[in-house]
Amino acid sequence: MGQRVLVTGGAGYIGSHTCLELLNAGHEVVVLDNLANSSEESLRRVQELCGKSITFAQLDLLDAAGVDALFATHQLDAVMHFAGLKAVGESNDIPLHYYSNNITGTLHLLEAMKRHGVWNFIFSSSATVYGVPESVPITEEFALSATNPYGRTKLMIEEILRDVAKAEPQLRAVLLRYFNPIGAHESGRIGEDPQGLPNNLMPFVMQVAVGLRDKVAVFGDDYDTRDGTGVRDYIHVTDLALGHLAALDALPQIHGCVAYNLGTGTGYSVLEMVRAAAQASERTIPHEVVARRAGDVGEVFADASRAARDLGWRATRDLQKMCEDSWRWQSKNPSGYKTQ
Ligand code: NAD
Ligand code: UD1
Repeated sequence: MGQRVLVTGGAGYIGSHTCLELLNAGHEVVVLDNLANSSEESLRRVQELCGKSITFAQLDLLDAAGVDALFATHQLDAVMHFAGLKAVGESNDIPLHYYSNNITGTLHLLEAMKRHGVWNFIFSSSATVYGVPESVPITEEFALSATNPYGRTKLMIEEILRDVAKAEPQLRAVLLRYFNPIGAHESGRIGEDPQGLPNNLMPFVMQVAVGLRDKVAVFGDDYDTRDGTGVRDYIHVTDLALGHLAALDALPQIHGCVAYNLGTGTGYSVLEMVRAAAQASERTIPHEVVARRAGDVGEVFADASRAARDLGWRATRDLQKMCEDSWRWQSKNPSGYKTQ
């Protein structure tokens, strides 16, 4: 049966793809977003793609009264919480802003949920909560730690939810620990639209392929990996979105607060990613090896078997599909949503 879902950060990259899948599956969507890192154009295109409408509230989670009023206006069944700032480097420069936005914003949301009796919660966590993992593949039982303020906000929110779950037995909270989301909806109409210099590998690679930048800097080729470059578990954003729908369906069986890895279980190196992107785009992608990036680790990939077992979810889109869809989005929208 269709549920009414509040999607915080729904105008952003992962949120917009999840809104589309929620609407396609017959759910109703209320988006809360302050558009700090997104534009309403993503939501316009989501509605155009599925022919259904979204209720949009341009609102900041730091506005506690506004958040409360939203809960008073809409009878909500569940909350998917994507809203947050996510740039690791920036979080080192302006930690107070990250703690205030991500932590205080989440507290306001949880307070409004409690006041209005909404107890179904799905949180955008990250593989960053594993810090520097001792081995791969990573299971949910691994030790948790943080290496930067951004990662610490994710870890703190997880801890807050574990505490709330102890105090409030009605709470059903799913922590989805994403590995490396890439790709775009296969229509090429919605995708990732980084502001300024992309922090992550694939948006950068795609901007080189389309001619916006000269070459990819490969951060180190002396890791203990098959070609010396960093290995990550890249996952198609549509698979990730479908993971949220699987979590929503599984919530009635969830007790308290449970974490799930969302990854494919397969790692690819930087050079393998550059090659796959070159093939999908039929462009040459110049690249040059430079020094390691501070804070990086050699190899990270998921054991995603808990999500398969409990949520009945697994990623199905392979690397070629991820690169083809990234390229379709990038080539049709070289300047992101500013391309009309
Ligand atoms: P994004 O920046 O595209 O989306 C986040 C959205 O939240 C944006 O639309 C932004 O405007 C909004 N937002 C931020 N602060 C807000 C506030 N105070 N009030 C209201 N809206 C606010 O990022 P994304 O890549 O879609 O990531 C979504 C979530 O997933 C984030 O919490 C992020 O930390 C997490 N995550 C992302 C990745 C990744 O690689 N993209 C990996 C792991 C986890
Ligand atoms: C980064 C963040 C992590 C966050 C994740 C998803 C750091 C240290 N970690 O992880 O906290 O959860 O993004 O948002 O920033 N690479 C290059 N050249 C580039 C960019 C990246 O060689 O221009 C390499 C990296 O060294 C890494 C791989 O590509 O081996 C992937 O990098 P990236 O996309 O930034 O993701 P993570 O490092 O996994």
